[in-house]
Amino acid sequence: MNQFGGNWTQQKIEIVASYAKAYLTVMKDRLYFKLLYFDGFAGSGDIFKENEYDFEIIVGTTMKILEIDSPRSFDMYYFVEKNENNKKQLEQKIRIKFPQKDTHIVCEDCNKKMIDLANFLKKNLNYRVLAFVDPYGMEVNWNSIEALKGLGIDLWILVPTGIGVNRLLKNDGKISDAWLQKLEKFLGMNPKSILDFFYKEKTSFTLFGDETLFEKEKKATDKAAKLYRTRLNEIFDFVSEPFIMKNTTNSVMYHFMMATNNKTAIKIANDVIKPKYK
Ligand SMILES: C[S@@+](CC[C@H](N)C(=O)[O-])C[C@H]1O[C@@H](n2cnc3c(N)ncnc32)[C@H](O)[C@@H]1O
Repeated sequence: MNQFGGNWTQQKIEIVASYAKAYLTVMKDRLYFKLLYFDGFAGSGDIFKENEYDFEIIVGTTMKILEIDSPRSFDMYYFVEKNENNKKQLEQKIRIKFPQKDTHIVCEDCNKKMIDLANFLKKNLNYRVLAFVDPYGMEVNWNSIEALKGLGIDLWILVPTGIGVNRLLKNDGKISDAWLQKLEKFLGMNPKSILDFFYKEKTSFTLFGDETLFEKEKKATDKAAKLYRTRLNEIFDFVSEPFIMKNTTNSVMYHFMMATNNKTAIKIANDVIKPKYK
């Protein structure tokens, strides 16, 4: 069972499930396409949510998607889960509840499987993919996203703008090499471009001469979201408005968004997000 919290966990599941239903409606008569659902961070099939006083178990996105049969189902489901125990739990639930569906569950790193997916789609042009990439943190490398360029894929991605990028951007710009490397891998940008984007340079006049200091731009989390959307737009033709997820103290943790090469798809994604966004 996954442990994860926030009302937005439920909202995120609803967004993906509503979008999947609309997607399957649009695709219902396009029988020349094989429809694949790809989940890069599949989890165990349910999510355990708790606070000081109470707990609840939420049905995970995997199950919600597998439940959809009308107007049609996906032809194939591909679930990636790195944790062996979660993978086994998911496998067991699917075996019991959805034995008739064409499901593939692998214990692997999502990055490897996104690149495998891209190679698969280049050879199998009749496939269309709805992908859901739902990490806890900054596990998704930019080159895994880049691999998807030009392919028939609608990608819902949870971007850890507050909980990830903003936390690594130290106020004084003195970021450790390990954190800078993490940011480079995540954003697909070199250290100079990252620092130029998120920091202002200031010269301070000290007794021992001038000193150059870095000062983090205000609203770095919002800037991270804008940057990621812009980066996604270099790979995909369209990127949705973000659904912003905040914690109980009103700090932004994630931006959830969709990227696609299809104009209709982006309109649907924005319509699905809108009521939750307001
Ligand atoms: C937020 S949970 C997923 C919840 C799931 N999407 C749902 O709605 O039910 C993230 C999951 O990703 C798994 N995970 C973490 N790093 C991973 C990686 N690099 N590749 C694949 N799975 C990973 C974790 O074990 C965890 O089960």
